[in-house]
Amino acid sequence: MKKVGLKFVAMMIIGIMAVGMFTGCSTSTSGGKVKNAVDIGIVLPTKDEPRWVQDETRFKNALKDTDYSVEILFSQGSSAKEKENVDALLAKGIKILIICPHDGNAAAAAVEAAKKEGVKVISYDRLITNTDAIDYYVTFDSVAVGKAQAQYLVDQVKGAGNPLYLYAGAASDNNAFLFFEGAWSVLQPKIADGTFVIKNSSEALALQEKLDLTREEMSKIISQVTTNWDFNDAKSKAEAHLTVAKAEDKGDVFILAPNDGTARSIADVFKADTDVTKYVITGQDAEKASIQYIIDGKQSMTVFKDVRTLVKDSIDMAISLLQGTAPETTGSYDNGKIDVKAKQTEVIVVHQQNVKEALIDSGYYEAGEFTGLK
Ligand code: GAL
Repeated sequence: MKKVGLKFVAMMIIGIMAVGMFTGCSTSTSGGKVKNAVDIGIVLPTKDEPRWVQDETRFKNALKDTDYSVEILFSQGSSAKEKENVDALLAKGIKILIICPHDGNAAAAAVEAAKKEGVKVISYDRLITNTDAIDYYVTFDSVAVGKAQAQYLVDQVKGAGNPLYLYAGAASDNNAFLFFEGAWSVLQPKIADGTFVIKNSSEALALQEKLDLTREEMSKIISQVTTNWDFNDAKSKAEAHLTVAKAEDKGDVFILAPNDGTARSIADVFKADTDVTKYVITGQDAEKASIQYIIDGKQSMTVFKDVRTLVKDSIDMAISLLQGTAPETTGSYDNGKIDVKAKQTEVIVVHQQNVKEALIDSGYYEAGEFTGLK
């Protein structure tokens, strides 16, 4: 009996080694099943937005020298695809899941499946909400992003009665609320004192005397001015707003655009309107195309979120967890169910005057990727 058992174990080991050689990666066993070992699974929202392709590139660069095996998958703006991605990674035996959800609430099911398998979950950039199945959150200071966007508009404005157009991100993304909350905290006093006049949201007008908005109140405004983070939605919304706006609602205008992709779409629409003499427009992400827009004077500013830091923080966190030590955190975020321990990174405002210093001299981009850089 004993002999047969030993033989069986030896054959199993040889079998496992053969699978490892064949697939070119190491193997592990879990729950009696042999699995190809991917240590860290990374799931990003979509390849259709340059922001997330940036993150993929930065992850690949940062992971070149790691001993751990990593796989990156994209969910293409679909929570169903996101769940499939997580299931596929679980089948490969991941121990850590780094996930940026397409929809913060809907992703709960995917991370709950991961948690059941004993996987540690790190929410990346966007918070997964209303579940206790996440362990950590790595993020930029999103309220500060919104504040910086609004402060830029305030710094450029003079006099009273200036037309203000508000746009927001997708309501399914918790960050869209944080950006808006930050922006509103700076804009509202300047709306209340008559410096700005909101031109494209009856819900925002109805709340213009109120500094601290509830989530429900923000929801009302965001549902009116959302871009869904989609270039085409942003474009058609801006076109619709300018179609109903009168000539006196145009002239020198101020536009809160939530990120770079939507800012470029919205800027193109405002630029094409002959009643718009000048516009100031915000953005975020320091996407290459927007850096060119800033150099060319077509977008006013962006908020640079150094993805290298976010990537490094999440990899360091994953490695600590794989090594059984507690990762370093700087605070926590309430996700509706639990307080999630978080590591937060600061952001930098970039405009025509400091674009070279902030993005080229820091080694984030190369000068040759742009034209007309001074
Ligand atoms: C947010 C993210 C931004 C922006 C946006 C659209 O969650 O923080 O950087 O990229 O999504 O994808």
